[in-house]
Amino acid sequence: MKIRYDLKPRAARRTDPFRPQGPLSFGQLRTDHMFLMDYEDGAWRDPRIVPYGPFSLAPGAVVLHYSQEIFEGAKAFLHQDGEIHAFRIDRNAQRLNRSAEGICMPPVPVADQVEAILALLDVERLWFPEQEGASLYIRPFMIATQDSLGVKPSRSYLFCCFLSPSGPYYPAGFKEPVKLLITRRFHRAAPGGTGAMKTGGNYAASLMAGEVAHKLGASQVLYVDASDRYIEEAGAMNHFHVTREGKLVIPTFTDSILRSITSESVIELGKAALGVEVVQERIELESFLSGVRSGAITEAGGFGTAAVVSAVGAYVFEDGKELKVGSGGIGEHTRRVYEVVTGIQRGQRPPPPGWLFKAPRLA
Ligand SMILES: Cc1ncc(COP(=O)(O)O)c(C=O)c1O
Repeated sequence: MKIRYDLKPRAARRTDPFRPQGPLSFGQLRTDHMFLMDYEDGAWRDPRIVPYGPFSLAPGAVVLHYSQEIFEGAKAFLHQDGEIHAFRIDRNAQRLNRSAEGICMPPVPVADQVEAILALLDVERLWFPEQEGASLYIRPFMIATQDSLGVKPSRSYLFCCFLSPSGPYYPAGFKEPVKLLITRRFHRAAPGGTGAMKTGGNYAASLMAGEVAHKLGASQVLYVDASDRYIEEAGAMNHFHVTREGKLVIPTFTDSILRSITSESVIELGKAALGVEVVQERIELESFLSGVRSGAITEAGGFGTAAVVSAVGAYVFEDGKELKVGSGGIGEHTRRVYEVVTGIQRGQRPPPPGWLFKAPRLA
């Protein structure tokens, strides 16, 4: 792929390392440039890196009416060697293509997605926030651009990727367990639906559930499947728990659960690296809750790119009652998974082959 560079004049862009004074929040800031590529007449055209900013879109664009949209989320890290390394972006690219297939969008070759992200990271390397626990969050996405009101797949698309210099997800360190709301009022996804795809509509449909969870003192909803029986996800993270015997259990991936790259990494690392056996099982909510009550389940949490690992201290019910998990703090296995995965991402532990992608110095 031949990327065209249309960069801002030097005077208008960052030319010195980014050393933020205060703590940076997650996902708010943007860098100077973004990557764009158009799909027309059956082919991807004009890959380019241009100044970050609004783009024009016809009011009748399919994405604005029927949400034909997919996105991804990944992270890159500055290592001791002074280079930027992106974590498993080939997996994100593969997942973007699975989402694309699911909602009738054209795939973007994995190699092109990886090249686009690395080229953008290279241009924006000075934007890496030099502070403890920071990262460059990577947001690739694709939208349907055809000006057409027929409910059918668009004929034209825009693929875009931008970056967000972000502070640590846990500004005070990894020590605040969250609460999850147990409710049967909301479902995130259904069999045969789009739950396993990263498409905007799923997230729009989850907003009300999130608001209700907040009102009841929880940070997110623990989603169960449409038959109200099996545990699926913890908000926008995969759910997991740890048993007293030292087994870490992640719900078996179905077509209503997103295949988290963090979960897949934990599964691949397994016992040798994590000191805990990792398995996938269908988990019935009722037996899970009795396990928490009896102490057979000692830890629980969520896996996802933004926080990597989030510990659940308690589950909240709609009547306001709470069920504490273990001691209500962060368990030893949860902490270890967090340390091992973030250690690999930050270059403090050796990565399994092919997990890190170094941004080349091109621009
Ligand atoms: C619904 C949902 N589940 C799980 C995850 C975690 O996936 P990953 O670890 O790839 O970020 C995400 C975030 O991407 C998500 O949106």
